[in-house]
Amino acid sequence: MQLGRDAACLFRCMGSVGRIPAGTSLLKGVILCFLCKGNGIMVWPFQHPFMENVREAFDAIASGYDRQRRFVIPQMEEFYEAAVWAAAWPGESPSILDIGAGTGLLSAFLLEKYPRATLTLLDISEKMLEVATERFAGNPRVRFVAADYSREELPGRYDLVCSALSIHHLENGDKRRLFRRIFEALNSGGLFVNADQAEAQSEWLSRRNIEYRDAFVSASPFPRDELRAAMTRRDTLDRNATLLDQISWLSEAGFSGVDVVYKNRTFCVFVGRR
Ligand SMILES: C[S@@+](CC[C@H](N)C(=O)[O-])C[C@H]1O[C@@H](n2cnc3c(N)ncnc32)[C@H](O)[C@@H]1O
Repeated sequence: MQLGRDAACLFRCMGSVGRIPAGTSLLKGVILCFLCKGNGIMVWPFQHPFMENVREAFDAIASGYDRQRRFVIPQMEEFYEAAVWAAAWPGESPSILDIGAGTGLLSAFLLEKYPRATLTLLDISEKMLEVATERFAGNPRVRFVAADYSREELPGRYDLVCSALSIHHLENGDKRRLFRRIFEALNSGGLFVNADQAEAQSEWLSRRNIEYRDAFVSASPFPRDELRAAMTRRDTLDRNATLLDQISWLSEAGFSGVDVVYKNRTFCVFVGRR
């Protein structure tokens, strides 16, 4: 046990515990650095209050979620199409894990492509999964797991691990650690496809990206209060990392052929193979 191995390790441990007031952050960082095995990515051993906020927010909008998506995601069809296109598997019945599956939007597209696939939908929000349960009612190949994937084990091993618009809710240390766990959960030759949001490399482009999305949302005919609520969720619950960082974390986790197959401002689809 070597407390605070070096400044970089301590700094990463502080980053891995979330956005908390500066004084507390330092104290927690020191405690975590005391516990971590030198990789600078430590899990805070108590319930993560931020994830609780995420769960509550998605529980609250579960019933209206599907109908508002196309009004808050520019080029939504192209975005999901790119993810499904990238999720290529040689057999007819891949085992698929959908991380942060929500109401099952991405899973539904994947099932259209692979009707004989076995699918596991994992989400922290039981209410979102309830909608998914109705969507896939009667399909014995689909199962549902309610869990916080940033803290709990990924259930099983898979040919494809896919995710849409979920992992950006994790703090960066948790994203990085999750990428390693996804690598471990994949069968040899298995593929990870992540359709998600990424922060720009510069502040000016970050601002431009926000303006682009705001303009898209403002032009939509959807009820104003619901759109405002969606943008408030973006401004309070999103923890976007840059695409370059995420690409490097995938390589670091052991993925090969890490690449980007789609990008439109913050929205991107990237892949890596075990
Ligand atoms: C914007 S929705 C995306 C849902 C679906 N993938 C889609 O494309 O419509 C994000 C989902 O990720 C889930 N989520 C976020 N963080 C999570 C975590 N740590 N563990 C499990 N689910 C999480 C939320 O509950 C929510 O259902």
